[in-house]
Amino acid sequence: MADQPLVLGIETSCDETGVGIVRGHTLLANTIASSVEQHARFGGVVPEVASRAHLEAMTPAVERALAEAGVGFGDIDAIAVTAGPGLAGALLVGVAAAKAYSLGLGVPLYGVNHLAAHVAVDQLEHGPLPKPCVALLVSGGHSSLLLVPDVAHDVISLGSTVDDAAGEAFDKVARVLGLPFPGGPHIDREAREGSGAAVAFPRGKYDDGTLDFSFSGLKTAVARWVEARRAAGESIHVPDVAASFQEAVVDVLTRKAIDACRRYDVRDLLIGGGVAANSRLRALARERCQAAGIRLRVPRPGLCTDNGAMVAALGADLVSGGAAPSALTIPADSSLPITTVHV
Ligand code: KG4
Ligand code: ZN
Repeated sequence: MADQPLVLGIETSCDETGVGIVRGHTLLANTIASSVEQHARFGGVVPEVASRAHLEAMTPAVERALAEAGVGFGDIDAIAVTAGPGLAGALLVGVAAAKAYSLGLGVPLYGVNHLAAHVAVDQLEHGPLPKPCVALLVSGGHSSLLLVPDVAHDVISLGSTVDDAAGEAFDKVARVLGLPFPGGPHIDREAREGSGAAVAFPRGKYDDGTLDFSFSGLKTAVARWVEARRAAGESIHVPDVAASFQEAVVDVLTRKAIDACRRYDVRDLLIGGGVAANSRLRALARERCQAAGIRLRVPRPGLCTDNGAMVAALGADLVSGGAAPSALTIPADSSLPITTVHV
């Protein structure tokens, strides 16, 4: 079992109840129950609503995943679960369920870091990760640049957002433009009909020499620009605003990601998280990586957004690498640092 362990992974850090099953780096099942529709009318994820939805979705999701993978409880070698970072109450549901399965089945428990799992998942699609690689993780909850010498042991934070996450900026700007939540896919679609050069929105921290991001100034700039036009009775061309905002975000993201590769002399860049689904981010990253001689890996969208397979993938690496299991007393840690790959 050590080489190709059958691992069940549980993810409940935000609004997706994800249960994934892998055998080594082979994906067998990836079941997702999302509560996103319950949050839509609030324009953002409501933690308490998410926690309750996880509670209801958990057992059916595990059963569906087992059926999809064609395996039974008795076949499972280990349970992996997101221990943090994320919403405290939401994490708690997954961690409690994982402990119960671990205890009930008599198999080891691995509490893992959500961000490291976003990196590890790419192995299910593109094979073993180059060592080292740089990872750009962009979602509604996080925007981070990581140096990854070895995803199962050693992940180093190079930079992160100092305010809003990239996806959060997409969601807030979408709201200003009257587009539904979550706004990222809507902005992406609108932007295809507009020009990214129509409005010169600010690029926060573009030349500050750090690998950190800032999107709150950009979000405010878009809101002010739109308000000023509306106050003057002018109509706004939503596709142009969406494209110009999107261009500002992906320009900074790709510039800093390539800067990170250059600084640490790394030839492989991985992009993950929900915003990695953005078509302009993918295109600009491809273009700039090619020009810089950097290989680019982006998992397919279903593996980029929060899911259980990513947790199972990291769990399989830990089992194969002989890592010590977590104690059944581990807490859910909403601010688990990236240096803690597994608890
Ligand atoms: O990883 P994810 O499913 O959940 C977490 O937030 O952890 O990411 C969701 C985020 C949302 O903010 C959503 O608007 C954004 O990813 N997103 C996109 C696109 N698809 C999803 N942002 C820009 N362009 C997209 N195509
Ligand atoms: Zn995530």
